[in-house]
Amino acid sequence: MKEEKGVSRRGFLKTAAAIGAALSINPVLDKIHAAEAVMSGNNPANVKTEGMHYRTLGSRKAAMEVSALGFGVMGMNYNRSQSPDRKEYIRLIHEAVDRGVTLFDTAIIYGPLKNELLAGEALEPYKGRVNVTTKFGHEVIDGKGTGRQDSSRATVRRYCEESLKRLRIDSIPLFYQHRYDRNTPIEEVAETISELIREGKVQRWGLCEVSADTIRKAHAVCPLTAIQSEYHLMHRDVEKNGVLDTCRKLGIGFVPYSPLNRGFLGGCINEYTRFDTNNDNRHTLPRFQPEAIRANTRIVNELQQFGRERGMTSSQVAIGWLLHKAPWIVPIPGTTKHSHLDENIHTLTFNISDNEWRTLETTLAAIAVVGDRYNAEQQKQVGY
Ligand SMILES: NC(=O)c1ccc[n+]([C@@H]2O[C@H](COP(=O)([O-])OP(=O)(O)OC[C@H]3O[C@@H](n4cnc5c(N)ncnc54)[C@H](OP(=O)(O)O)[C@@H]3O)[C@@H](O)[C@H]2O)c1
Repeated sequence: MKEEKGVSRRGFLKTAAAIGAALSINPVLDKIHAAEAVMSGNNPANVKTEGMHYRTLGSRKAAMEVSALGFGVMGMNYNRSQSPDRKEYIRLIHEAVDRGVTLFDTAIIYGPLKNELLAGEALEPYKGRVNVTTKFGHEVIDGKGTGRQDSSRATVRRYCEESLKRLRIDSIPLFYQHRYDRNTPIEEVAETISELIREGKVQRWGLCEVSADTIRKAHAVCPLTAIQSEYHLMHRDVEKNGVLDTCRKLGIGFVPYSPLNRGFLGGCINEYTRFDTNNDNRHTLPRFQPEAIRANTRIVNELQQFGRERGMTSSQVAIGWLLHKAPWIVPIPGTTKHSHLDENIHTLTFNISDNEWRTLETTLAAIAVVGDRYNAEQQKQVGY
């Protein structure tokens, strides 16, 4: 893939090619990549910790150096069943910071609002040293989601002010549009964000679940730092619809959400698993119906088999596969458990060759994934 002239990633890729190891887990490459970002002087937030690797999302003024593995806060109190109490969540978030995680992901719609409040409270002691990213777009009125999108200028500006308060910060390190708004052209959204960046209320921005065309239009107005879309071994659309290629070409980072396919690839879910109908959207998803789970367990079995020969769990295989795809990819698994946090971070210690990953891909290509990722209503909101 030809790199765009002047994109700061170009030098990195040349070096990577020279040592014949591009697109594989390699601490050396991460260091080279990180060094570029450090030189750019664009990294206000980073508590570096031994054992963690660091990567750069975006380029030039939009660059952001973060831990190679982020932390999805959503599932602590939204969409992922019951969880431990608030004190325990906060202890876990602090442990993630201690382990070197500098990227925490939340959104206004998670809760709604209460996930941002949790992230704000937990991360306040680390203000300015770690990044909390949040998302606007889903309309929220009186603390409730309406199901509509609103990325109009006035609303985005208001949401920004409100998120700053809930997150207890002065400037949002990375503000994503959560879903495309058909009533507000993406160029207008980019203009609004440019204003907020000029005012210092937002540092960078990103988009979720959009097409390559939308990415190009938005980036031309205000450079994007990251695209956040679903990407994992059971959902590889971004490889085929031009999104990853566009990110590579324009020097935009990529943040795969639900990297474990909402926990499924971790191997703890089977056809008898019951999801809390009050606070877990998995019971509404076609891929989490018992018959789909039963069929798709073959995929988890393959990950476990691949992992067994290498001392890895299926979660580590799933996360490791994403990390090897490009050094500008930063997955954000969510967890409510200290043991899973430890396991996920340990993924960074394995060194699996491109050939081994290819073998896994070939094995999985022979297994059809059963069930759509979203129901019809949710599917309508993606891909613009
Ligand atoms: N932009 C968007 O539209 C969008 C959409 C969805 C999510 N997201 C973001 O992505 C983040 C992660 O997504 P997600 O929560 O949907 O999916 P995920 O990270 O793929 O899966 C989370 C689930 O995996 C389990 N898990 C974590 N580590 C594990 C391990 N080592 N072994 C076994 N199970 C493990 C967790 O359960 P335990 O608690 O038991 O560990 C949790 O239920 C969210 O927090 C959110 O920030 C963004």
